[in-house]
Amino acid sequence: VLTEHIRFSEPDQNLLLLDQRYLPLREETFACRTTADIVYALQTMVVRGAPAIGVTAAYGCWLALREAGDGAGWRETLSTKLAEIENARPTAVNLRWAVRRMRAVWAALGEASAAALSARWLEEARTVHREDIAANEAMGRFGADLIEDGDTVLTHCNAGALATAGHGTAVGVIYSAWQQGKRIKVIADETRPFLQGARLTAYEVHKAGIPVTVACDNACALLMQKGLVQKVVVGADRIAANGDAANKIGTFGVALIAKEFGVPFYVAAPVSTIDPETPTGDLIPIEDRTPREVTHVGDHQITPQDVPVYNFAFDVTPNRLIAGIITDQGVLRPPYTEAIAKLFKK
Ligand code: MRU
Repeated sequence: VLTEHIRFSEPDQNLLLLDQRYLPLREETFACRTTADIVYALQTMVVRGAPAIGVTAAYGCWLALREAGDGAGWRETLSTKLAEIENARPTAVNLRWAVRRMRAVWAALGEASAAALSARWLEEARTVHREDIAANEAMGRFGADLIEDGDTVLTHCNAGALATAGHGTAVGVIYSAWQQGKRIKVIADETRPFLQGARLTAYEVHKAGIPVTVACDNACALLMQKGLVQKVVVGADRIAANGDAANKIGTFGVALIAKEFGVPFYVAAPVSTIDPETPTGDLIPIEDRTPREVTHVGDHQITPQDVPVYNFAFDVTPNRLIAGIITDQGVLRPPYTEAIAKLFKK
């Protein structure tokens, strides 16, 4: 299982990211040194997946501080840079969560010098990084109980090690079940248009030695009708206070089809992906990405010139379609409004 795809180097003062745009064909590293590099890496999806975005943002705050220096006005410069990181992508709440966490550390230090903040922030970013791996392993343990020996598990997009600091959320559940000796198989939905399933989930699950088959997104109904899928486990970018869950475009369709065929549909996400400030899913901002991802495959245009396209990057699965939300604190069951309120009271 991948662990080296997000690496921070203090001596080199950079964040090294395995560039997910080129996988599985090329394993290239993208080095971030500035706030602009971080924003670029987030927006072009050099790094993607809600928890991985959060970890990147935490180190990004440290790079922003280094860039802001310690001369007059460094605090104002830094605040502007933090806002740029926080707003790089709108849907995954982990981005806002991570930057707010770094801001809270800064606020707690009061009028501290840039040097004092730098030391404290590096520690905090490393903690965010470490905690994410631990959360995924905990989620994996809770989720693995829901997977039976012999199951074929369908997943959409990539909620694996690559989408996190390590182990993964939805795919982490699959890894944990596999490590417990359950003989499972995986179906990775292709996930148009960025192909996170075909390129990234297939890459890392195959590397882990687990049998994986790639299917076109539109094959889901047929596969379930044929009885080829026993469970669905997907990740989330933001879960509203009522349990509605935003995830990669196409997830909602998978959930509807799973309902039709009586296949349990689970969402796996750390508590940092739950947004108690957003009451219902319709209030979750949906990223609208460049048409080029749809009009082109690589450098080849596949749609007629001047025909508009939709490229919404996420959709929201209503809570009624979700059999359970697997978190690092345990599995939440409906009614989710109560379960989530109880979790945050703790
Ligand atoms: O656009 P992406 O690739 O960042 O979208 C990622 C997803 O939708 C994942 O399923 C989600 O972030 C959960 S990752 C553990």
